[in-house]
Amino acid sequence: MTAVFDIEALQVDLPLGGALWPRLIGKAAPRLNILSDITLSIASGESLGLVGESGSGKTTLARAMLGLMPASSGTMRFEGAPLGSRASFTALRRQTALMFQDPVASLSPRMRVGALVTEPFVIHREPMGNRRERARELLETVGLPAAIAERFPHELSGGQARRVCVARALALTPRLVLADEPTAGLDVSVQGEVLNLMSGLRDRLNLSFMIISHNLAMVRHVTDRIAIMYLGRLVESGPTAQVFANPRHPYTASLIAAEPHPDPRRRRDDLAIKGEIPSLLQRPAGCEFHTRCPRATDRCRVEPPALRAIAPGWQARCHLAEPEPT
Ligand SMILES: Nc1ncnc2c1ncn2[C@@H]1O[C@H](COP(=O)(O)OP(=O)(O)OP(=O)(O)O)[C@@H](O)[C@H]1O
Ligand code: SF4
Ligand SMILES: [Mg+2]
Repeated sequence: MTAVFDIEALQVDLPLGGALWPRLIGKAAPRLNILSDITLSIASGESLGLVGESGSGKTTLARAMLGLMPASSGTMRFEGAPLGSRASFTALRRQTALMFQDPVASLSPRMRVGALVTEPFVIHREPMGNRRERARELLETVGLPAAIAERFPHELSGGQARRVCVARALALTPRLVLADEPTAGLDVSVQGEVLNLMSGLRDRLNLSFMIISHNLAMVRHVTDRIAIMYLGRLVESGPTAQVFANPRHPYTASLIAAEPHPDPRRRRDDLAIKGEIPSLLQRPAGCEFHTRCPRATDRCRVEPPALRAIAPGWQARCHLAEPEPT
């Protein structure tokens, strides 16, 4: 499969203390490292799940991919073409849709649905032909009747509003959709409805998805590959089914073990993560997960683990990760 998006050794640092710092003390502000050594690719028609506790850097990664957050180093390519210049990101945003953490709140309350779903054409100055006709087509794609075009956002149900957000995301026929918590805050039945819609569109339009979520059960159900982040680094990435069946990084194992299980005897308390996430200002030495890892050894406290290959397309950043027997 060809890659739609390629990221290699991406690093994102932000200046601490804001823009005033250099003027106050006369030298460059210290920088906080948010993302480090991120290497990842999303194939055409693939759905990638990005998981990790709050503050692990998932949204920052999505923003950096779209050029909304500057990269300090590393390279990114969209369909093989390098990203970096302003023009390259403008062209990218035309072909990539970002669904925010609370997409419904981002719908302007004074615009009718018909105008909302076709607004991307106006923003990107793209010809859309007959606006009413285009709105009807987009609403049809997400399974909504044409009459909804006349309504305002507050007149929609939760499920309808999400569908409008998806229609809006699809307006310019993107190649890649970055969806940040696409089902957060929805009832279980509406969650299923939105996910079915997204996977149907993926098959029909050969879209690629990056789905950011805390909901592991959902990620397991709808993604082909999964990437797990801790303190701004990828600690494991691989095929979803294999990673869930046999996670190789203790952090991945802990996240999976923390998922509610219908059979309490299957709960793995020995895998539970201990303590709090360390501050980005005081990254632990050695393996950054050692302060919470149930399997940490003395070596882990001093030596940072490299990414180790488990099998083709599957890697884990842990001293104990062994390759799959061939
Ligand atoms: N503009 C910023 N300035 C300073 N720190 C930031 C900025 N944006 C993000 N951060 C920090 O970067 C880290 C990663 O944040 P990010 O929002 O990417 O996490 P996340 O994985 O999306 O979390 P959540 O699951 O809660 O959405 C956090 O520690 C956050 O405080
Ligand atoms: S390297 Fe050590 S501390 Fe880090 S995840 Fe592996 S076992 Fe745990
Ligand atoms: Mg986030």
